[in-house]
Amino acid sequence: MFITFEGIDGSGKSTQIKKLRNRLEEKGALVDVYRDPGGPVVSEQVREILLNPNFEIDSVTELLLFSAARSQLMSENVLPGLEEGKVIILDRFFDSTTAYQGYGRESVPLQEIQKLNAIASHKRKPDLTIYMKLSLAAAKKRMAKTKDRMEQAGDAFFEKVIMGYNKLAEREDRFFTVDATKPVSKVHDQIWQHVNKKYLS
Ligand code: TMP
Repeated sequence: MFITFEGIDGSGKSTQIKKLRNRLEEKGALVDVYRDPGGPVVSEQVREILLNPNFEIDSVTELLLFSAARSQLMSENVLPGLEEGKVIILDRFFDSTTAYQGYGRESVPLQEIQKLNAIASHKRKPDLTIYMKLSLAAAKKRMAKTKDRMEQAGDAFFEKVIMGYNKLAEREDRFFTVDATKPVSKVHDQIWQHVNKKYLS
């Protein structure tokens, strides 16, 4: 089973991923968690370039670097893990590219982003995508003080990213949207019920 988490920075993805992982392991599942961009050494190094606030990166270069990091994560970790029957949970995946580089940066037309996403993911879509929905105002209260290169983009950019996520959530059946302002344990219960009902029963 392949599960991805999406949402803007500060939406609480990491906390929910930890809780879901524990719950699945209690049930006896073998679970691997990775962050995108990240995972293999190559992808972690690309991540450092992408998030370094000292670099100015052209928007198409940015799109290609996120995709390159993802392709390596797929081939080294995600695809082999799924083959072994593991549950793979990713903190972000190609929907981030659609939301951030597609709707946010408007780097290339959305149809081209879709094609690139298919290439970078080796044509493997998530079985389930959990979208932690949060307004920009609520996210800003939770954001860390030191900002990485992506977090330094302005409010107008993040409003477009949120709009992008909301459109994806309407369009894609694999999306399950949760209200990220609700208490952590409530959000976890909703996610767990959904995973259990749809995928484990
Ligand atoms: P994070 O792992 O701390 O969420 O940082 C990754 C940052 O990169 C975050 O601001 C979202 C952004 N991002 C994109 O812009 N496009 C992508 O395809 C991905 C995976 C992340």
